[in-house]
Amino acid sequence: MAKTIHILNGPNLNLLGKRQPEIYGADTLADVEATCAKLGRELGLEVALSQSNHEGEIVEMIHAAREKVEGIIINPAAYTHTSVAILDALNTFEGPVIEVHISNVHRRESFRHHSYVSLRADGVIAGLGVEGYQLALRRMATLLA
Ligand code: DQA
Repeated sequence: MAKTIHILNGPNLNLLGKRQPEIYGADTLADVEATCAKLGRELGLEVALSQSNHEGEIVEMIHAAREKVEGIIINPAAYTHTSVAILDALNTFEGPVIEVHISNVHRRESFRHHSYVSLRADGVIAGLGVEGYQLALRRMATLLA
């Protein structure tokens, strides 16, 4: 049976493609879902993508992932920089976790330089645009082989 990867996205990423395209690009989250599903098929991975604007919902998605999926790719968006709750939830997950940021957070405001999620992530991708999700998926295929 194919291994499943959950791609979790935090607040405002539902507006990807419309939101500050000079920073985040023109692709929508639906485009990301389609390209990742296609790549997943090539890699033999099942890919499910979700988005929530609510911290507690993201915590619950991570809890649900504990039973169902082999790996988590997460762009926690602004919660990256604030959420101990998301870090704690990820610490209950045993499989690989890869953190993705579309923009290069290190070239931006200093409050974006710290990530709680990086304390748990096995790897971090930042500044490679939405391609970062695909690169994370390729790494997942290696880690789960
Ligand atoms: C982001 C970077 C965060 O600082 C920001 O709050 C986001 C998106 C990124 O993908 O570059 O919403 O995670």
